[in-house]
Amino acid sequence: MGEGKRILLVVSGGIAAYKCPDLVRRLRERGYGVRCVLTQGGAQFVTPLALGAVSGDTVYQDLFSLTDESEMGHIRLSREADLVLVAPATANIIAAMAAGLAGDLATTVLLATDKPVMIAPAMNVRMWEHPATRANVTTLRNRGIGLVGPEAGDMACGETGMGRMSDPNDIVAAVDGFFRNAGRLAGRKAVITSGPTFEAIDPVRFIGNHSSGKQGHAIAAALAHMGAQTTLVTGPTAQPDPSGVSVIHVRSAREMHDACLEALPADIAVCAAAVADWRVADEAAQKIKKGANAAPPSLTLIPNPDILAALAAAGNKRPRLVVGFAAETENVVENATAKRARKGCDWIVANDVSPSTGTFGGDANAVHLIDGEGAESWPLLSKEAVAERLATRIAERLEEATP
Ligand code: CTP
Repeated sequence: MGEGKRILLVVSGGIAAYKCPDLVRRLRERGYGVRCVLTQGGAQFVTPLALGAVSGDTVYQDLFSLTDESEMGHIRLSREADLVLVAPATANIIAAMAAGLAGDLATTVLLATDKPVMIAPAMNVRMWEHPATRANVTTLRNRGIGLVGPEAGDMACGETGMGRMSDPNDIVAAVDGFFRNAGRLAGRKAVITSGPTFEAIDPVRFIGNHSSGKQGHAIAAALAHMGAQTTLVTGPTAQPDPSGVSVIHVRSAREMHDACLEALPADIAVCAAAVADWRVADEAAQKIKKGANAAPPSLTLIPNPDILAALAAAGNKRPRLVVGFAAETENVVENATAKRARKGCDWIVANDVSPSTGTFGGDANAVHLIDGEGAESWPLLSKEAVAERLATRIAERLEEATP
């Protein structure tokens, strides 16, 4: 699998660093070339001698070492790899990466690299759950940095919870997955909708909904990582624009509809937006005043265009694979199967959004993928994992369809 691929492994200072010689050995067994950068903290848990022996290469440790720099300048070090893997990735190195700090060789390499980066976080559960770490991880994800783990379990510090570094086998599987999927959708075009729509009542008021845009943005990012030329048409959200994606910001359903149809032709369309079904018939040109004793205004609503149905009925511009979402609170599979037929799309990703699941606005999603053959239930996954799985399925489907 890994023949000819080079991995730069950055080992930072967590107890899980003791697993790194095993990780290096397994990567090399798969054919990957591995070169290591060891931080000062990392060297407290694993010796450069051990990493050097298993990698068969020099272990680089010091930014200001004449030997290291003359042998392999840090810029070259950052560029001569197909993937930079940080394992274990401590809360500290994650924070430094998010902030763009370059205080030692490892962080300098990470700031200077133009190669894909994957991290395997490892830290105490409280550190993992701290808002600072949550925000830093989100920043890294939005920059397109891949995550493997962490896992839940007992920790070296005696506590139990999320924060254990993934098993070396799982890290190797994630690395294999990265190389298998890289470029898999090259030459394909994708249009994704995400977020809510805002339907104006007057210049200051609107009808909207609570969609966070997390799932749609994650799908756009996952398709772009696999090489698809991706256009994300999004309503107003707090999500940053995913890297490598061309983003069109809209407000209303009609704007979203027009932007999507203009983005055709495309091979893939995924409608993850929570589009308002109705808009106000007569949007007031001026702010509606309460007046002295005026009665509350009554609003007449009219239907919005159905973007998913329009993409599925776009004639010779119809994307080869049109995927919709269904937010259901009961009879999830049954309702979503009927929705697939009604909208004319190929697949429906159905999720249970009853308030008890925390899906709406939350980070995880329990979904069923519905196609012409039936329904497949996926386990509870993070929205990023749902996005990656969906992107992989899309790639498989298009590969099948291409003679
Ligand atoms: N959709 C769309 N344009 C609309 C309405 C919905 O593109 N005007 C898309 C959504 O992005 C999603 C799917 O259609 O992919 C959801 O279908 P919808 O009929 O809105 O169903 P729900 O809102 O899930 O529920 P309900 O059946 O109760 O309307």
